[in-house]
Amino acid sequence: QRLCKGDTMTDDRLCRAALEAAENAYNPYSHFSVGAALLCGDGSVYTGCNIENASFTPTVCAERVAVFKAVSEGRRDFVKIAVAGKGRGKTYGICPPCGVCRQVLSEFCKSGFEILLVTDGGYEAHTLGELLPLSFEFTGE
Ligand code: THU
Repeated sequence: QRLCKGDTMTDDRLCRAALEAAENAYNPYSHFSVGAALLCGDGSVYTGCNIENASFTPTVCAERVAVFKAVSEGRRDFVKIAVAGKGRGKTYGICPPCGVCRQVLSEFCKSGFEILLVTDGGYEAHTLGELLPLSFEFTGE
């Protein structure tokens, strides 16, 4: 799903896009649904859901799917991401991105990049710097 440039992307709408993306979760093993919506500097939005695998290891998180979709289409300038997660028969509670996804976000995003964690009735805002302090940066040649 991609919204067009010119649309006003409020935090609320971004959270709703994450909730909608969670509907596509492929999760026959965990029954845990995650959706992510990534807002780019040009106003476009890329969504992702978790996609599991019988071999478990190849499973990818919703956040990485959203980032990789965006990067593969030429986007690298990211403003914020909304993430929504819930278990089977449960309501949405905060789903903080896993360590691997935080690292992937840190490849493209500065410490002030906002991470909106959807809750049952709203969301809470954090920054990447807060969730991944002292992050690794490659300084070799
Ligand atoms: N998952 C995500 O998609 N994002 C997260 O931030 C944490 C975990 C997925 C992976 C797996 O399909 C399921 O949630 C349970 O770990």
